[in-house]
Amino acid sequence: MIDLHSHVLPGLDDGAADLEEAVAMCRAAAEDGIEVLAGTPHVRRDYPTAPEQMETALAALREAVGDLLRLVGGGELDVVELDRPPEELARFALAGNPGYLLVETPYRGWPVELPEQLFRLRTSGIVPVLAHPERNAEVQQRPDLLVPLVAGGTLVQLTSASVDGRLGRRTQTCAATLLRQGLAHLVASDAHRPSVRAIGLRSAADAVGDRALARWLTLEVPRAIVDREPVPPRPRPIRPRRHFFR
Ligand SMILES: [Fe+2]
Repeated sequence: MIDLHSHVLPGLDDGAADLEEAVAMCRAAAEDGIEVLAGTPHVRRDYPTAPEQMETALAALREAVGDLLRLVGGGELDVVELDRPPEELARFALAGNPGYLLVETPYRGWPVELPEQLFRLRTSGIVPVLAHPERNAEVQQRPDLLVPLVAGGTLVQLTSASVDGRLGRRTQTCAATLLRQGLAHLVASDAHRPSVRAIGLRSAADAVGDRALARWLTLEVPRAIVDREPVPPRPRPIRPRRHFFR
């Protein structure tokens, strides 16, 4: 599997505190079946990670883990950080692919300017990967908020703990709805701590309950991003989203 969202890079945010903890996270990820792991530190007001900090931490961790798994870089950018200069955004590219950027969904509210900001990224040639919208209360109430974003080319990342129910029923229900409606494209751990449970990508894949779809979410889509290939089509038809508008 390929995990494109984690806080494994040490000492940058609320994830791995030091190199030792970061290596332990990599071991747990490998044990869970992850072959490529992205270190995507927060880039936001409370954790204002600079590109060179991410790059330095990535190089140090690569050296420490050797060939246990392949580490790639990135950043999880708050929407207010999207106005940074393009060359800086490029250094936070997801898995080093300049065509993708991981954008954090606000935890509260649904900023009216969000669709516009994501659209602007798209027009500058960058595909936004929206991180864990299923954890947002507005999206839980109205999953159809994502319809125009996905139609405009945004990819949606679900968190493994949402999919398998570790974050509660409401979040799990929302994740299942997004999956059913074709509004989700990849599952990632968003791991902050070193345990297989904190990563849980395997258990999320099992919870999807459809092996071809699980493989698309945890391997084929993230692999296309890592390898700079086109995202492959979804293996299962999307059910009509009629009931959103009842
Ligand atoms: Fe995250």
